[in-house]
Parts: sequence; structure tokens; C-alpha cells
Amino acid sequence: MLAIIGGTGLTQMEGLNVVSRQQVSTQWGEPSAEIVTGSIEGKEVLFLARHGHPHRIPPHKVNYRANIQALKDAGATAIIAVNAVGGIHPECEPAGLMIPDQIVDYTWGREHTFFADDLDEVVHIDFSWPYDEPLRQLLLKEAANLQLKVMDKGVYGATQGPRLETAGEIQRMKRDGCDIVGMTGMPEAALAREVELPYACVALVVNMAAGLTDEIITMAEIEEALHQGMGKVLNLLSSSAKVYQD
Ligand code: HPA
Repeated sequence: MLAIIGGTGLTQMEGLNVVSRQQVSTQWGEPSAEIVTGSIEGKEVLFLARHGHPHRIPPHKVNYRANIQALKDAGATAIIAVNAVGGIHPECEPAGLMIPDQIVDYTWGREHTFFADDLDEVVHIDFSWPYDEPLRQLLLKEAANLQLKVMDKGVYGATQGPRLETAGEIQRMKRDGCDIVGMTGMPEAALAREVELPYACVALVVNMAAGLTDEIITMAEIEEALHQGMGKVLNLLSSSAKVYQD
């Protein structure tokens, strides 16, 4: 069953016929919100609001381990994560979409692994290609079918937040090869890999990153881009859910 993790601007999913909502607990604690089971055009999906519903948990306080574990326990076989991001690559534009293929992780101090305590052996997962390529291709194919413009690859730089970056930090990230910047891509992607759940990201650009325009970043512009772009994201999620096969 496909699971969707909704980010900023997607705390509940329009178009989802809700079948059940379950308040669950895991050995890592409680996930951000109820696990919603629903159907999209007859296909069962799971939905979890990363920041809670209503939105109240900041990026560095999200219990990523509980979220991934809860979805795994609920029967997820793959995860599509939705993330609002800042654009760094010059072709990014507010309300534009990217399906990234790489990650650079700048987060710190987050519970970032299931392999921390009570180990029989030390585990190092392969994470060369952090996103699942078949799942990325499924998203790209559905985007093409819907005639949605998407950037088909790019590097997601994951920052700690909750503050936005300095212009200097964005220049460093640019030199590091980052194309977009967000606060929630990690450790979520790595935890999904640790429990062998294929994982891909739909990134919605909601502002150009710090210092790349003459303006400062306002919540109003972010909200406007979320409003403009989320319809496209929902269409992409629905058609991807429809064709997804376990
Ligand atoms: N930086 C980090 N995270 C973000 C941004 C940004 O500019 N926009 C939305 N999430």
C-alpha cells in the first residue's frame, strides 16, 4: 500500500475518501498525527501529516522514526513524501515542482537512525541513491501524462530550521551542488531506507532561497505559492496512487 507523507500546506488530503483514522504508538514514540487510511479512486492509500494536523510540529521536532515506523506497521510498501522547499537552481520558480534524485544533509541533533541501541551488529545501509528510482520514474511518468512541468532531478539540501537560511549559507549550498533547500527531507529518507521502504519526494518550490532575489522571504509569498502549487501536487499524487502496484 502506498503511503503519502504530507508536509507544509498538506495536512489533510483532498480527494482522499477516508476509511479510518488510527491513533497509533510505536517503540519510538507517537507519530505526528493519526494514520489515515483512505482510498483514491478505489485504490487504498495511507496518509500522515508530517507536522501534525493542524500544523504544529516544527521540522526539528518531528518524530521521524515514529512516523516511518507507524507507516511500516500500518502496511506501507512505499512512501511518497511531499516537501515545500526553497529554490536554488535558477530554473526553479515558485509553485514549480521537482522530483529530486540526491540529498545533502546539513541537519543535526535529530534522532536519525533505527540502528542506535541494543544492536547485535553495526549496520551501515547503502544510501548512494537516497530516492527509489522506480518510484521516481512512476512520478515522472504520471507528471508527463498530466502534462505537469517538473524538474526531473536535483539535489535536496536538508537544513535544520526552523529559521530560513542566510544568503551566505545558500551560496555555500549552491557550491555544494544543492538545487533546492528544505528542512524535512532528512532523516526521513534515510529512515525509510533503513526499514527498506522505497521512498521518493515531490518537492514544491514555495520561494526562491535566501539572497537569490532582492526581496526578503515572507510567509505571505510562501502561502501564495503553496496555494498555487498544491493542486498540481494533489493531481500528481492521485494519479500516481492509482497506478502504483505493490
Ligand atoms: N529554506 C528551507 N526550507 C524551506 C524553504 C527555504 O527557503 N522554503 C520552504 N521550506
